[in-house]
Amino acid sequence: MAQLWGGRFTKLTEDAVFAFNASLPFDKRLFEQDVEGSIAHVVMLEKQRILSLAEKDLIVKGLVGIREDVRNGKLTITQEHEDIHSFVETVLTERIGNAGKKLHTGRSRNDQVALDMKLYIRQEIVNMAGVIYDLLETLMNLMENHLTTYMPGFTHLQKAQPTTVAHHMGAYFEMFKRDSDRLHDIYRRMNYCPLGSGAFAGTTYPLDRSYTASLMGFEGPSLNSMDAVSDRDYLIEFLSALATVMMHLSRFSEEIILWNSNEYRFIEIDDAYSTGSSIMPQKKNPDIAELVRGKTGRVYGALLSVLTTMKGLPLAYNKDMQEDKEVTFDAIDTVKQCLYLFNGMLKTISFQEDIMAASAMNGFTNATDAADYLVNKGVPFRDAHSIVGRLVLYCLDQETAIEGIPLDELKTISDVFEADVYEAVSLRTCVEKRLTLGAPGKASMQEAIAINKEFLARYWTKAPSAPRTT
Ligand code: ARG
Repeated sequence: MAQLWGGRFTKLTEDAVFAFNASLPFDKRLFEQDVEGSIAHVVMLEKQRILSLAEKDLIVKGLVGIREDVRNGKLTITQEHEDIHSFVETVLTERIGNAGKKLHTGRSRNDQVALDMKLYIRQEIVNMAGVIYDLLETLMNLMENHLTTYMPGFTHLQKAQPTTVAHHMGAYFEMFKRDSDRLHDIYRRMNYCPLGSGAFAGTTYPLDRSYTASLMGFEGPSLNSMDAVSDRDYLIEFLSALATVMMHLSRFSEEIILWNSNEYRFIEIDDAYSTGSSIMPQKKNPDIAELVRGKTGRVYGALLSVLTTMKGLPLAYNKDMQEDKEVTFDAIDTVKQCLYLFNGMLKTISFQEDIMAASAMNGFTNATDAADYLVNKGVPFRDAHSIVGRLVLYCLDQETAIEGIPLDELKTISDVFEADVYEAVSLRTCVEKRLTLGAPGKASMQEAIAINKEFLARYWTKAPSAPRTT
């Protein structure tokens, strides 16, 4: 058991208390960030003449040595330390002696942990944007390759109007594009450095907070030291963005599961992304999609957990806030893994184009177009709606589609129908005439694709300054 704060105490903590209090088993993830923040801190302390040049050099060399040794496995982060901050400081002092004890000058673990977590999340935002980019690329390819792959579109899970696979994939493209934008916004808003806030009331040393902030690529220092150590808003926003990513993935998964079912057979999931049943030899299950759908609850849980942890906390730091880490780390791992696997599955899916087109041709997905046809011949829309309603009833009775009714029979329902109606209600016409921006017609899809290609070309090039590696 190694603690940084023994002076005031007459006893060591109980083992169970130590274990309950310790965060090292999970905050060891923040090792790199802890070292980076400590280096920036001592470089600033020397610039401000709070440490001598020799002390700074010794500390920086010591920290770099620790980082090297942990990276290459010569030094393991062991459980006798209370947290990652204690580990770094204790090992540093063991290695370089008294100078190591000066590392924590003008700093508290409260501003230190706030900094470490911000550095970590900032990097993970960039990583997450990268995995989202891969998915956006897959969706872009699908859009370009399936401009005329016709399928039924649904409302209330009932066939509604025909659309294309490109259009359907384009809907998800927009969702993940917004997710990426959201991450970008969060990065911008959170990019203020808490270091130098001390326990909560700043310090009496003449720190240069703008300097440390700029060393680590922050926009600037935070402006209220009490807020800076108490703020976990950026985690809540980040988890909310991740929950939204999962909500999108989960809806997509649900569609993949439906489309892959025996009833739809719109798609076939690649063998490499399916699993079998231990009892039913014929089964090929969409487990990846089901697991992604299932793991969504876990990520929502992380968001709710941090929101609930924070809701009753008086300012400033409270130990409750240590609970922000495990759920956040778990959510990050889960979302990255889900995005990665979902993307792999999506890339290898084959679309059963004939089945989709056949499905789009029944279920009266062209009923709206039949009504529009009448409108174009001068019938008021409400009357056209009613005429086609009667026509659908007639078709149901005859067990055929609108295009299966001969013209003379159509004329008994409305004499406005002419021979050109068959072309007007064909699957191809129904889709290709939908040319408002955002609609599935080929020309409007191509317009949206061109705009989205621009988006991909500029993707995160305006990323807020990347963290500088010391
Ligand atoms: N492990 C702590 C956390 O994650 C670090 C901050 C400790 N500060 C304190 N005053 N005990 O929040």
